[in-house]
Amino acid sequence: MNVMQAEAPVAVGETGLEIALPAGRSYFNHYWLRDNCPSSFDRSTRERSFDILHLAAPPRPETAEIEGEALVIRWAGEDHTSRYPLAMLAQYAAPTKRSDPADMPRRAWYGDHYPDIPRFSQPELKADKAKVADWLEALIVEGLAIVTDMPDSDAGLTELVELMGQVRPTFFGLYFDVKTHINPTNTAYTAGALELHTDTPAEETAPGVQFLHCRANTVEGGMSLYADGVAVANDFRARDPEGFRLLSETEVPFFCEHDSYDMRSRQTIIELDEHGEVSGLTLSQHMLDILDLDQHLLDDWYPAFCRFGKMLQEERYLMRFTMKAGECMVFDNHRIVHGRAAYSATSGERYLRGTYSDRAEMRSTYRALVSEGRFK
Ligand SMILES: [Fe+2]
Repeated sequence: MNVMQAEAPVAVGETGLEIALPAGRSYFNHYWLRDNCPSSFDRSTRERSFDILHLAAPPRPETAEIEGEALVIRWAGEDHTSRYPLAMLAQYAAPTKRSDPADMPRRAWYGDHYPDIPRFSQPELKADKAKVADWLEALIVEGLAIVTDMPDSDAGLTELVELMGQVRPTFFGLYFDVKTHINPTNTAYTAGALELHTDTPAEETAPGVQFLHCRANTVEGGMSLYADGVAVANDFRARDPEGFRLLSETEVPFFCEHDSYDMRSRQTIIELDEHGEVSGLTLSQHMLDILDLDQHLLDDWYPAFCRFGKMLQEERYLMRFTMKAGECMVFDNHRIVHGRAAYSATSGERYLRGTYSDRAEMRSTYRALVSEGRFK
């Protein structure tokens, strides 16, 4: 860049310009300025309509000056003038990520959380967008909510998902059924326990939000088990920093294979977000593949994995309860581990119908409900 005139309100250099803003002199690249002229965005489509790849030559200001509360640039070689509100430039003067209303700190919960789980009724959610925002906020912050008063129909679940986003298929399809009918002729069938897990980690990106709609539950046993992966992993981080490092940095293989599919992925057991905070877990005894890692690394990884897995089963983290017909558990499938105690299949009927949506859908709907966005 050329040496600029230090004191001029706007000083044009070779690659960009310097401008005096209330917070101090700031530099803006010419490409950025040309690309982000306010006229580059179509208010009707709400998309960028300008394509910088069509510029014949690198953008260069013919003139650049401050007029009132705006920077005005006439561009060389094209018939185009840009007006940038100084407030807009102030917003981008430093590389600060755009603020995101859906980026809220998580609140960890423990085994005694059941009475405090946020609850919303399905008809109330359908009628009131403010309640939908509260519901999504609860899911982002705590990772789990119960929706009550669900209609006893397949459509009821779809309607609930669509308040948040789209139904998200997995390789099992759009919906799944966990069903056991009473069968007196089948004498001793006992539905076994399901260990704590997250669903379908063999997918490259496992679904982010899980819905489990209880349509019937009259069996003996079969209590639902839930634990907050964030609570456990945060405590593990404090108790066992080296174990935490191994489980949050080492990608391990997951698989799910049958005649017509062969899903494979690599995931870390503990998932961190962009801030380095724990955002979830990936855990599945059924889908963990044979570890194809250095055997010496496994000398450390396996003991750490077992220490963590045992910690996850400590009473202080485990929430146990019996789902009632008409309730739908909605939870972050990357954060909340879930399982089920064994039950007696001959003692009644148990029918859960499930499906998924994604974290991105949930956050998108939340932002649209609570913020102005770029164009409103
Ligand atoms: Fe599951």
